[in-house]
Amino acid sequence: MQKFGTEYHTIILGDALQTLKTEVKNNSIDLIFADPPYNIGKNFNGHKDKWSNDESYVEWCYEWLSLCIDKLKPNGSFYVMTSTQFMPYFDLFLRNKLTILSRIVWYYDSSGVQAKKFYGSMYEPILFCVKDPNNYVFNSDAILVEAKTGSKRKLIDYRKNPPQVYNSEKIPGNVWEFPRVRYRMEEYENHPTQKPISLLERIIKASSNEGATILDPFSGTFTTSFVAKSLDRKSIGIELQDEYVKIGLRRLGLATEFKGETLQKPLKTYETNKIQASHSLTLFEPDGTYLHE
Ligand SMILES: C[S@@+](CC[C@H](N)C(=O)[O-])C[C@H]1O[C@@H](n2cnc3c(N)ncnc32)[C@H](O)[C@@H]1O
Repeated sequence: MQKFGTEYHTIILGDALQTLKTEVKNNSIDLIFADPPYNIGKNFNGHKDKWSNDESYVEWCYEWLSLCIDKLKPNGSFYVMTSTQFMPYFDLFLRNKLTILSRIVWYYDSSGVQAKKFYGSMYEPILFCVKDPNNYVFNSDAILVEAKTGSKRKLIDYRKNPPQVYNSEKIPGNVWEFPRVRYRMEEYENHPTQKPISLLERIIKASSNEGATILDPFSGTFTTSFVAKSLDRKSIGIELQDEYVKIGLRRLGLATEFKGETLQKPLKTYETNKIQASHSLTLFEPDGTYLHE
């Protein structure tokens, strides 16, 4: 286990279970976002996300889910994700320990590889839970979205006296549409299941205030910590793999090198191609004369 960062933003290279037990105080966290391995065979830098059977995956999850509950403050909130096939286990487990306020569907368009003989997966489930349904943070004004009835269709609500135009903004429902992180997007990092900044912005703005402490036990590319920092919250991010901790240190501006290696965002292939093309262009005069020996 290795710790990096400042009193505001901590990155821990280590196992989530172990780190939660020893490094995070009980009742100390305002908001947890947990996006664990889904047990669907993704490749996390050479580590296969596949348990020997479903029961052992679920047992492992119950352990860290329980620890997360211990870490939350009495007015804390917990957002947790997993694959569609395992979310029912999470739901049954958590509903006896917390109040599940929303069962969210993160929906995205998938125009890449499509299932041919069944309905392809176009969403990931998220549970939004709180410890105390009478005392939790929910900044609805910070996450308003367009309400088309009022903003586009300009409909009038004649039930009101006098009649009024419908609101042009509303609190989002439980189906959220955000594009997945694609290679060409500025925020892209080399990780198979990076979550979009837009998704974390909604969660963090709604369920925490400035100065709050946000914990992500499976940080991957450290999207949670990155967004927490941009929104003036504190963060604790845990991740098992060096490769991903390097991304976190760079994304949060916490270090410029790791074990002697300079931390730089790798260029994307189209960026390298562009640079190569511009170099080869400068070798020739516009009339095609070669500039160098
Ligand atoms: C679904 S990804 C998280 C992606 C992240 N939300 C993001 O936006 O990049 C799960 C991460 O958990 C890490 N992981 C797997 N087992 C772990 C463990 N026991 N402790 C800590 N991290 C673990 C994996 O390396 C992977 O990066």
